[in-house]
Amino acid sequence: MRAKIIGTGSCLPDKIVTNDALSALVDTSDEWIQSRTGICGRHLVSAEHETTLSMAVKAGQAALTDAGILPQQLDLILVATVSSDFMTPSTACMVQKELGASHAAAFDINAACSGFLFALNTVDAYFQAGIYQTALIIGVETLSKLIDWSDRSTCVLFGDGAGAAVAKASEEGMIASLQGSDGSGGDILVCRNRSNNNPYIHTGTELDYLFMDGQEVFKFAVKKEPECIQALLQQAGMQPADVDYYLLHQANYRIIASIARKLKLPLEKFPSNVSHCGNTSAASIPILLDEVNKKGMLPKDSLILLSGFGAGLTWGAALLKW
Ligand code: ACO
Repeated sequence: MRAKIIGTGSCLPDKIVTNDALSALVDTSDEWIQSRTGICGRHLVSAEHETTLSMAVKAGQAALTDAGILPQQLDLILVATVSSDFMTPSTACMVQKELGASHAAAFDINAACSGFLFALNTVDAYFQAGIYQTALIIGVETLSKLIDWSDRSTCVLFGDGAGAAVAKASEEGMIASLQGSDGSGGDILVCRNRSNNNPYIHTGTELDYLFMDGQEVFKFAVKKEPECIQALLQQAGMQPADVDYYLLHQANYRIIASIARKLKLPLEKFPSNVSHCGNTSAASIPILLDEVNKKGMLPKDSLILLSGFGAGLTWGAALLKW
């Protein structure tokens, strides 16, 4: 049995921050941000009740409603995130409690922007092994708490939000998937956790913000993602044109356009929401999937290819029949 997505949901914070609003914080401009990234605005949490958990729960609830599945029917909850509210318990366990999904095993996955794909592939492996039958997969980030808001090279790029999908073990759904990692490239996109300050070691208590070597990440993305997609299509015995829609990680519209060019495909096959969401890391693919689904763009038997890259370094892709 393979993973078939039977419902989607998403949650974006109410507050929309435009590029012009950011120009009042740092030395940047709407023209610079739009021309380099395609981003016009992003949603950011702006109230205490908006947290990683609250967005995850709202997206998860919406996906369950869309799928017609009760929380008690879930036997697995996976949450992909790098920005949990707590070190422990995991966001997945907190979502399980909030939803009342008392029969579900729950844990988090950290694969940065590839996290939703790693979670989907993990669910598919559990289904293939016959261990679980019904899973909720959530990608959620409050990246705004990891960002240095005085660093114009990163603060203009990211947004907050959550996306979710319910997957059921089925005869058809996932056609092929792959994922990979290269820890040796990890230092181009880094956010350190708190330092150790136990009685035997004094390393300071300063918390770090996200650091990114943008040009190196760009080079990695435009090389690795098309390779990953080609390898996946080869695995499935398909040509790029056979896929109805490519739902790629929404980091930068120039990266998406470069991948479309490399695959010799029209941009219409690459729906995008980076202009109004920015880069929401693990949440970006499921938020986009929910938008596309709710717009009615996915009739039964559509072929969609999800693919992303991120910190780690990590990359992943999945080809699904809708
Ligand atoms: N506004 C105005 N100027 C800026 C800004 C800004 N917000 N940010 C940087 N600049 C300046 C730089 O200081 C530099 O000035 P200098 O030439 O005087 O030194 C100039 O603009 C050019 O900077 P570059 O970094 O060369 O700009 P580039 O064209 O490479 O675009 C960008 C930067 C958009 C970050 C690009 O490299 C990129 O998209 N990289 C990939 C980022 C990405 O995908 N991240 C996500 C990865 S995975 C994950 O999602 C976590």
